Amino acid sequence: MSRVLTALQPTGNLHIGNYFGAIDPLLELQEQGNENYLFIVDYHAITIPKDPAQLRKNIIYATAVYLAAGIDINKTTLFQQSRVPQHTELAWILNCLTYMGELERMTQFKDKSRNKGETVSVGLFAYPVLMAADILLYNTDFVPVGEDQVQHVELARDIAKRFNNRFGETFVVPEPRIRTSGARIMGLDDPTKKMSKSAESPKNYISLLDDEDDVRKKIRSAVTDSESTISFDPEHRPALANLLTIFSLVTKKSIQDLATEYKTKGYGTFKGDLAEALVSWLKPFQEKVNGYLKNEEELKRVLDKGAERALLKAETTMKRVREKIGIVL
Ligand code: ADP
Ligand code: TRP
Repeated sequence: MSRVLTALQPTGNLHIGNYFGAIDPLLELQEQGNENYLFIVDYHAITIPKDPAQLRKNIIYATAVYLAAGIDINKTTLFQQSRVPQHTELAWILNCLTYMGELERMTQFKDKSRNKGETVSVGLFAYPVLMAADILLYNTDFVPVGEDQVQHVELARDIAKRFNNRFGETFVVPEPRIRTSGARIMGLDDPTKKMSKSAESPKNYISLLDDEDDVRKKIRSAVTDSESTISFDPEHRPALANLLTIFSLVTKKSIQDLATEYKTKGYGTFKGDLAEALVSWLKPFQEKVNGYLKNEEELKRVLDKGAERALLKAETTMKRVREKIGIVL
């Protein structure tokens, strides 16, 4: 049995890229009988200033989203990162094994720190080390993530190997698991950049909270190209390829079948049908999320139980780590 682990930041604005890039692969793996961990990385979230009331709300909302998506707490340990202090404890130790140069190379850090000069937080810089700790604590074999996180998982591998070399076999060296389709959903307004909740315009993404009208409007205004037929050609027709990918993910029809079906139907019909498919996919999902949100106490109990389970595993690893580095007397 493999151990599979992933985590998401608690932001109110999860979009379909997050769903298909990060949550959906975990559902598949959950059904394959793995040992699964899914957690809400509140300590990663505060590397960029967050309003406390909003953060609290987002943690609850994220929990409701995972349950609505089909996370089964009997198969997956679902918890909140900050409730398991071993994450920050291990992060400190790993900080002492990680080189400045390695962190300076992280693309996400470069993107997020741009124009911030000297005021960029140490937390944002050290964030991949906390992520390495998240992964290594649970002897993780596979980490399902979107493409943008692969560099961070690679760093976790390097840190694990370095620790093992220096102190003896301790950590499993994890592997990233990237989805072939949906691993990188692109922005609706710009197919050269990934769909992102931090995009300047909400027209960039379909949020899991968008209502029917939003979805229809956003799909209608999604960029396409000036050709007249529909075909799947990611290199030359990236915008259309992205829309076909989304269509395929929500209908579970193959991209090729959809491309053939819509070949000569024109953009209007194609976009109209895509919007309706998205609405039919989102509506029952949103109803489920709202159902869970009605009982916040129950959501908190789910997180309590998850933290209890995660803590036992994390402490087992930490005991070994403390011994290996020579701080247990
Ligand atoms: P965002 O860029 O929207 O802020 P995050 O960086 O919080 O998203 O990513 C959360 C998870 O969702 C990660 O596993 C990431 O790889 C995945 N993800 C984010 N954007 C996309 C996308 N456009 N397509 C596929 N997966 C994505
Ligand atoms: N850094 C990831 C993101 O922003 C979230 C994350 C934190 C994560 N710890 C993790 C993902 C461990 C996978 C495994 O999307």
